[in-house]
Amino acid sequence: MSQTPTRADFDHYMVPNYAPQQAIPVRGEGSRLWDQEGREYIDFAGGIAVNGLGHCHPVLVEALTAQANRLWHLSNVYTNEPALALARSLVERTFADKVYLCSSGGEANEAALKLARRWAHDHHGEHKHRIVSFAQSFHGRTFFTVSVGGQPKYSQGFGPVPGGIVHGQFNDLDSVRNLIDDDTCAVMVEPMQGEGGIIPADPEFLQGLRDLCDAFDVLLIFDEVQTGAGRTGSLYAYQQYGVTPDILTSAKSLGGGFPVGAMLTTDRVAPAMAIGTHGSTYGGNPLASAVALAAVEYIDTPEVLEGIKHRHDLFREHLEAINRQHGVFKEIRGMGLLVGAEMAPAYEGRAKDILPLALEEGLMALVAGPNVLRMAPSLVIPEADIAEGMARLERAVARLVAGQ
Ligand SMILES: Cc1ncc(COP(=O)(O)O)c(C=O)c1O
Repeated sequence: MSQTPTRADFDHYMVPNYAPQQAIPVRGEGSRLWDQEGREYIDFAGGIAVNGLGHCHPVLVEALTAQANRLWHLSNVYTNEPALALARSLVERTFADKVYLCSSGGEANEAALKLARRWAHDHHGEHKHRIVSFAQSFHGRTFFTVSVGGQPKYSQGFGPVPGGIVHGQFNDLDSVRNLIDDDTCAVMVEPMQGEGGIIPADPEFLQGLRDLCDAFDVLLIFDEVQTGAGRTGSLYAYQQYGVTPDILTSAKSLGGGFPVGAMLTTDRVAPAMAIGTHGSTYGGNPLASAVALAAVEYIDTPEVLEGIKHRHDLFREHLEAINRQHGVFKEIRGMGLLVGAEMAPAYEGRAKDILPLALEEGLMALVAGPNVLRMAPSLVIPEADIAEGMARLERAVARLVAGQ
């Protein structure tokens, strides 16, 4: 291996489950990144909706370094101040009475699903174990969460999947009426499908799920891993919908780039996760908790949340202007700073072709499935960076249209 790692080292040393771009970013500040060659990029990808305050935000750097000089890790044999402060802050800001801390979205969802099954088992018996989820949903890459997720390509080829999982159609309440019964323990849903194509839930759909869950004593789980921690313009998307789940999962922007996850629930449900039922060595890690607390406190303010709504409007205006010029998008949608642009029929399935062109123009973006260009930038991205990023996107789209 040479002194400076290269992209070739990835193919040499890493398990081949990813195919990263050629450029290797080495430094970030706010919504800008620089690679090994010193090339600068505007970041509309945000580490897949993770860098909620951009790169190296001073508030997060301060929280991390202060904690790094104090205490790194204890395990759950002891508790620690940052974990307790984070849990209290989440409880005070949401519907929740109790919090379980972990290190990722998949882990938070794994905990949520196990909690739901155990709660139903304890309160109703063995039979109440079925989980209703939705086609195209995404809940993580553990074996339980890929099985509950609605994209079979992620669970196929790994042997038998856990049983008792059924999938309805997102935004189609009738499809759920046919699946839910006394044997159902949980309905798991993203308030806005992220990986599935940036599709916001209809308010009536979420309310209908709540009513069905109440009728059958089923736990409603909102996976807010991607939509949470300010992403949609409120701390959690459920607060905008006015529909309250029994369990909510959070990760991604919660840590602003530091790995952390949280499962939030109520006093009615939490006792099922009794001593010894579940755990994680790193859950409630002091470094992760200190950063997440700083992120939550910074994001959950009127200035930042209002700013997200304003920036959403800017994103829409710019994307619509690009579309007026080039006609590549069928629909622009999303909430807050999780924005999707679905490709027009003439460009069906070609969202990913924009990414390398955008990168060459100095812009990082994402896709959500083959047909949707996705943007999940910093929640505090400067307006000048939005304008410059969109100018670069326009050039990338023009090249797509020109067939370059
Ligand atoms: C809605 C949702 N749930 C869960 C996950 C999994 O989170 P993680 O990759 O942190 O395990 C993701 C990641 O994209 C997600 O978008």
